Amino acid sequence: MERLYGKPLLNQEDIHKRVRELGHQIAVDYEGKDLVMIGILKGAYNFFSDLTRAVMLPVRIDFVIATSYGMAATTSGIVRIISDLTEDITGKDVLMVDDIIDSGVTTDFMKKHLLSKRPSSLKTCVLLDKKERRKVAIEADYAGFSIPNKYVVGYGLDYQNKYRNLPYIAVLDVNEAQT
Ligand code: IMP
Ligand code: MG
Repeated sequence: MERLYGKPLLNQEDIHKRVRELGHQIAVDYEGKDLVMIGILKGAYNFFSDLTRAVMLPVRIDFVIATSYGMAATTSGIVRIISDLTEDITGKDVLMVDDIIDSGVTTDFMKKHLLSKRPSSLKTCVLLDKKERRKVAIEADYAGFSIPNKYVVGYGLDYQNKYRNLPYIAVLDVNEAQT
């Protein structure tokens, strides 16, 4: 099984160091604000858990469960909300947290969805950024790592809902993956 994961692209130490840096930066930027951090599930579950614990501010936490239709390795371009926020974010400073920005379709869709709830501000934070693949002109306000155009799994990122529990990030050879 292990060979399927290949060599780690980012090991646990790389990830935790960068997550701590992002957390400190967010704490500085949002000092004195009414910050709500929103995790986009399922992909952000590990990143969100670590990032929120690196932000030394009394933040509120909420989640949206979203999915792209289909099980393909690339997004179908149609995002569906399975479960929405539990609390009102009107007038709040909101930071949306996701695993990766690839084509930008998901980030763009989720931003519009959250903006419709009239937060006082909205920023985005992603762990990974695949800049080459953008179809929508959008950038994350905070990004952990720029990565090459390879399909990656682990630390929340999946292939057909598997490999999310891999504790580091690895390039997956989709042709070799057991489905
Ligand atoms: P976008 O809408 O194309 O920006 O893609 C965002 C979503 O596609 C992410 O939230 C992931 O679920 C998925 N995705 C994109 N690239 C990868 C990858 O390399 N590995 C795993 N999931 C990915
Ligand atoms: Mg996914």
